Amino acid sequence: AVAGAGMVTGSLGGGDLLAARAAAAAPWRAAPEPGSGRLHEIAFEAAEREMALFGPDETPVRVWSYADKPFPVVRINRGDRVRAEVHNRLTEHVSVHWHGLRIPNAMDGVQYLTQPPIQPGERFTYDFTPPDPGTFFFHPHCNESGQVGRGLAGIMVVEGDERVKPDGELILAVKDWRLGPDGRWLEFSTPQGASRGGTFGTRRSTNGRRAFSAEVPAAADLRVRLLNLDSSRVMEIGIEGATAAIVAVDGHAVRPIPLDRSGQETWRMGPAMRLDLLVRTPRPGAVAKIIDYQSAEPWTVAALAAAGKPRRRGALDADILYRPVFPEPDLAHAEALSWTFMAASDSVASFADAAGSDPAQRLLMDSLCVSERTYWSINKLSWPNAADRRLPPPLGVLTAGRTYRFELVNATPHPHPIHLHGHVFRVVSSSERARMPAYAADTVLLSPKERVEIAFVATAGDWMFHCHILEHLETGMMGYLRVV
Ligand code: C2O
Ligand code: CU
Repeated sequence: AVAGAGMVTGSLGGGDLLAARAAAAAPWRAAPEPGSGRLHEIAFEAAEREMALFGPDETPVRVWSYADKPFPVVRINRGDRVRAEVHNRLTEHVSVHWHGLRIPNAMDGVQYLTQPPIQPGERFTYDFTPPDPGTFFFHPHCNESGQVGRGLAGIMVVEGDERVKPDGELILAVKDWRLGPDGRWLEFSTPQGASRGGTFGTRRSTNGRRAFSAEVPAAADLRVRLLNLDSSRVMEIGIEGATAAIVAVDGHAVRPIPLDRSGQETWRMGPAMRLDLLVRTPRPGAVAKIIDYQSAEPWTVAALAAAGKPRRRGALDADILYRPVFPEPDLAHAEALSWTFMAASDSVASFADAAGSDPAQRLLMDSLCVSERTYWSINKLSWPNAADRRLPPPLGVLTAGRTYRFELVNATPHPHPIHLHGHVFRVVSSSERARMPAYAADTVLLSPKERVEIAFVATAGDWMFHCHILEHLETGMMGYLRVV
């Protein structure tokens, strides 16, 4: 497996993928403009629900969810409008942040920064039209380790990127749960976890199953939408028993990047990251496995059992998606900024000092959005802890419409998946990779000591910029950029 940044950099795999190579040389077709969209009226109820999370025979768990199951799927077409009313029936405030969607700042769902918290008993309506097709998700933005830890999140699929229809589709949502043997929640964050790689769950799952398996059509092209919805876990995704390629990263189409059938070529996925794979399923009776090789014991994310008459012959041609539609950064005229992700220390200036005595900045914050403890910082600034109780000033002020080139420096011995709200960025370079396939993302995984460059066109608003290991953002590794 490729170490470090865990990216597939090398040449294409076996002869099976020659078709993909040939296709990659052809011009990449643009998606047709979406027609006049449909309106989707969605009603969410954020509530505690008792359910048998791991199957009908298991002890019921007190899950928090937006709908009557964890991870409800919202499926729309590109160009469709979403009106989602959220009714809060929990005992603490919530919101919905639509992770990765380029939508107006007021719809971004960050308590205090872009909207008031949705207090218990209250309702709030989100109204937007996502511009990009792809695989996305949504979650609240305060007490994330506790709320997402209990299951409060959902999946959003925006269709309209397929030039060629695959034979089938499967959504795989991967998450660990911090449950004791009695089916009760364990503490979601511990000082040992928060100050290191994160507090890990005790039970792994895919789609709420310990060992997920599905029957799939044999010798068929299956689109797999894989989401890492865990709070802390980094996975290294590969495949065994089938030919497959990555066709989109964080929802945005890439020229197919092969995954090797023997697990030799893999892709690392931190919390919040998504991968779309096109898998050529095996012959009838055979089983293909999507595997996480990150842990000492490789873990089967999903076992795909092929059945029925073979559908396709010949090599996999994974070049099935249109070119993505987000605005391309103008690298020749980019402004460069550098951000260092590091531990907090005594020398760290607090946001409180940076805020000065500006009364507008003295907004009271609910202690749920912040932690008692501060372990992390961005450019030596830490998101305020509970003692500060105010909204800090932005980490930086950017100009709308300009291209920015960010250097992201990981000065810690832990991986950090770094997320910027409301934008899609190109991942331009990495200190760990000589060659890198062209791809774009909303979250990029920094390996220990890695230095990565990203570039994007800034759009107006106050946009959160943080590590997506939930305990890291809660203990300082979070800030926001103001784009005017
Ligand atoms: Cu999933 Cu602030 O993000
Ligand atoms: Cu982190």
